[in-house]
Amino acid sequence: MAKKNPFKKNPSTKFKNTSKLSPKEAKEQAEQLREALEFHNYRYYVKNDPVISDRAYDKLFARLQELEDSFPELQTPDSPTRRVGAPPVDEFKKVQHTETMLSLDSALEENKIKNFDDYIHKHVNKSDVTYIVEPKFDGLSVELVYENGKFSYGATRGDGTTGEDISENLKTIGSVPLQLQKNDLPDYLAVRGEVIMSRSGFQKMNKERVEKGENAFANPRNAAAGIIRQLDSRKVADKPLDIFFYEILKMEGIEIQSHWDVLKKFPEWGLKTSPLNKKCDSFDEVKKYREKLAEQRDGMDFEIDGIVIKLDNRELRQELGKRQRNPRWAMAWKFEPKKEVTILREIVVQVGRTGMLTPVALLDPVDVGGVTVSRATLHNEEEVHEKDVRRGDKVRIIRAGDVIPEVVERVKSGGKKRGPKFTMPDECPVCGTEVVNEGAYYFCPAGLSCPAQLKNRIQHYASREAMNIENLGDKIVDRMVKRGMLKNLPDLYHLSKKDIKELEGFAEKSASKLYDAIQESKKPELDRFLYALGIRHVGRHIARVLARKFHTLDKIRKAHYDDLVAVSEIGPEIAETVHDFFAEDVNQEMIDNLLDAGVSVKSTKGREKIPLEGKTFVFTGELDHYSRSEAKDLVESLGARATSSVSGNTDYLVVGENPGSKLDDAKKENVKILKEKDFQKMIEEVE
Ligand code: IVH
Repeated sequence: MAKKNPFKKNPSTKFKNTSKLSPKEAKEQAEQLREALEFHNYRYYVKNDPVISDRAYDKLFARLQELEDSFPELQTPDSPTRRVGAPPVDEFKKVQHTETMLSLDSALEENKIKNFDDYIHKHVNKSDVTYIVEPKFDGLSVELVYENGKFSYGATRGDGTTGEDISENLKTIGSVPLQLQKNDLPDYLAVRGEVIMSRSGFQKMNKERVEKGENAFANPRNAAAGIIRQLDSRKVADKPLDIFFYEILKMEGIEIQSHWDVLKKFPEWGLKTSPLNKKCDSFDEVKKYREKLAEQRDGMDFEIDGIVIKLDNRELRQELGKRQRNPRWAMAWKFEPKKEVTILREIVVQVGRTGMLTPVALLDPVDVGGVTVSRATLHNEEEVHEKDVRRGDKVRIIRAGDVIPEVVERVKSGGKKRGPKFTMPDECPVCGTEVVNEGAYYFCPAGLSCPAQLKNRIQHYASREAMNIENLGDKIVDRMVKRGMLKNLPDLYHLSKKDIKELEGFAEKSASKLYDAIQESKKPELDRFLYALGIRHVGRHIARVLARKFHTLDKIRKAHYDDLVAVSEIGPEIAETVHDFFAEDVNQEMIDNLLDAGVSVKSTKGREKIPLEGKTFVFTGELDHYSRSEAKDLVESLGARATSSVSGNTDYLVVGENPGSKLDDAKKENVKILKEKDFQKMIEEVE
């Protein structure tokens, strides 16, 4: 019989000096402490019913730490002491998920959810239709793997197939068990959960960040997502992260048929679930559940953006399978975005990286769905006039998920004298150059001699999606520009380690690191480089389209308007801005200087990805986002063929509004049918 663990109930916190312990005693005590600390975590985080005081917990923890320090051979990777984080890593290891981590089809409109319910009823016997409804957490989806009850590793969702190993970071979260409670444990368990940050934790952390002069996170989701991907787990350990578990990805050793039973088992094992999960037998009940949660939403301490409806029976789920990346057995029913009313104090004008002037509303801080909003975009002058918002007005603010807060409308509150009508300034508010205007848009034409544009351009150039220069964050660029160290993009490559070291906050090692990161960015892919240049309208996607068509930087630099506009997906407006960009001597000169500084842009030729090679597509009906010829060009540019009739050789039929007889042909031939939305998703994924 195993000895009773003395640290579980009324533990004594008086300990012998570690030098008086034999290695055997030390080992036994460390093991008992580990088990007990895990148990106390479970009582605290999962059961919400701690059996010892925080003080006693801290003492047990300190004792374990002391033992591990005195007897280093006793250290284990899953010790609760590891919850304080481990030394930083250079990058995360990639890990393959045990099962693909699917995403959810979602809708806001009731009829779309009803269609889902109809679909389920069509394919499942009425008596088997039980739904489990859960809150849809607005956080970051992760996979955690337990082998024989021990935490093995955890990863981000990544692209659904491969994620990043963030085990050390996950271990710092108190509600992540390192050892499951022994209770009919599976031999192998891969679970899925959502890492979130509570609203209260978020507000507190943001306040501290602002007080320290650091940037505030926009919302709890961004904060959770940013922090959980920190390379230094010690910086994760002191953050208020939490986790809820909601699905099994893979389980071996035991079987559970009903998801409801899974959700009952999770907390017994120590995996925290939402107390709001519920069983529903009808669509009406689901609807009521959503209404109730929508009402409670504001009062909750964590953000949810809808509900998830899941078929309970796990065997039937298998039979229903998936469509593209979404299971057919589940659907998310989103909530309406949040709106709040506040006072608009001032309309200021911001200068973006392309010189575009954007009016921004400064607001009396207002809590919109748990996040304090104090600025909101107004897009352009026309919009300010259309909405007729002025200084001092009452306005309604919206914040939907990740989206930047927006002013929706003015709330009339008669009687008071209103502020003056907003007009765009004649001069750039940052550099004073006379503003030029094109239709609804206003620009500062000073280009990189305007500090605001210079700063934004360099920040964009260095950003992750562009040249991905690690450690060159917005603040550092800001400081470099202010100090006059960077007057143009190529100056980046002329910075010496010494220059960097002289900047506030840098030491030998960090300066070296940033210097290396800048040097390492010298061999970009063509599409990244194009995107990094910050040409108006050239986002990631268009940059890829250009790279695929033109293959080399040289060809794009020399492309005529007609060459550009002939490319599918490139309309006259984009063609013009791309052409105009390269027609400017200053831009050509800047590119020459980048190349002279050692930047060597890889050409795409010969290494072009052909992700849809060998596939045949047929289109029917009207598509919302593409003309027929655009859709054909698009799949062809990705290596597929587009034909006009369905045959046994067709791989996909893409169906728009009012499809023709091709749909029936496709069904007969068992051809995979894609709605436009699925098609778009597919394109996004392969590109
Ligand atoms: S189930 C195959 N349940 O919503 C179904 N997801 O795309 C797997 N989410 O990536 C997801 N709360 O991050 C499920 N109760 C919940 C959830 C939930 C939030 C997230 C998850 C997923 C996204 C939808």
